[in-house]
Amino acid sequence: MKKICFVGGGNMASAMLAGLRKAHPALVCHIIEPFAPARDKLAATGVTVYATAERAAIDGADAVVLAVKPQVLKDACAQLLPHLAGELIVSIAAGTRAGTISRWLGGHTRIVRTMPNTPALIGQGITGLYAPASLAERDVATATALMQSTGPVVRVESEAMIDAVTAVSGSGPAYVFQFIESMLAAAQGVGFDADNARTLVLATLKGATALAEASDESPAVLRERVTSKGGTTAAALAVIDARGVQAAYVDAVRAARDRGAELGALADGA
Ligand SMILES: NC(=O)c1ccc[n+]([C@@H]2O[C@H](COP(=O)([O-])OP(=O)(O)OC[C@H]3O[C@@H](n4cnc5c(N)ncnc54)[C@H](OP(=O)(O)O)[C@@H]3O)[C@@H](O)[C@H]2O)c1
Repeated sequence: MKKICFVGGGNMASAMLAGLRKAHPALVCHIIEPFAPARDKLAATGVTVYATAERAAIDGADAVVLAVKPQVLKDACAQLLPHLAGELIVSIAAGTRAGTISRWLGGHTRIVRTMPNTPALIGQGITGLYAPASLAERDVATATALMQSTGPVVRVESEAMIDAVTAVSGSGPAYVFQFIESMLAAAQGVGFDADNARTLVLATLKGATALAEASDESPAVLRERVTSKGGTTAAALAVIDARGVQAAYVDAVRAARDRGAELGALADGA
């Protein structure tokens, strides 16, 4: 990878840039960003900045990354279109289908659609990636390397599965934050102050996640190992099971996936 162009120099572009520069120190980065203060900040890091799309920003780029909010993506595509000469487009915009972007880019087909998540902002994201089967493997490899700047990449075989990625890992941090909120309230409910509750809950989450990652055993086996018959964990899990929490997650993820499909269809009509 020699040169990358970002359309939009916000949070995600900055996070990707930080990871990319670590992995490819000689990478040339050009960013189109209309907001002058954001442009100045980026320019101070050695990036070449542009207030509006122009050929020089894109020329020679291995990929052009669409990193604007979905609501301004159509406008950004309209500004980009006259300057495109067949470059690889990688979209990180949530909820906008590759076909919609293709239409906004005058029928351009060299498009990869990705779905990162918010921990990408600290280099600990996970990205779902969809590339049409017709796309050259070299382009898929470039898009994958780009997105690996903020964490691992999972390739999905159909674009509909991007809605499933959105439901699991895109929205997933919110489910985890809600779990943390619930555990903090529960810890305070049994007598801890806010500081100790935070320390206990976050360290438990971090440790259990690391154990699940490091272990060859399934989470179910790890759970059973902490749960002795008639013990404290069994008392807690009985309450959680009686409330149907696992089934709620299945329904929640399905609801998120279906909403993603609806929003994608709405954006397609825009
Ligand atoms: N943040 C995440 O963790 C996350 C996770 C998954 C997906 N995404 C997706 O990533 C995309 C970017 O998110 P973000 O958090 O980085 O947003 P952001 O911080 O708002 O960055 C977008 C940037 O693009 C600029 N912009 C607006 N119109 C433009 C145009 N026509 N041409 C070029 N630049 C333009 C914006 O400038 P102004 O401020 O002047 O509008 C802003 O600086 C979104 O589509 C989002 O859905 C983000």
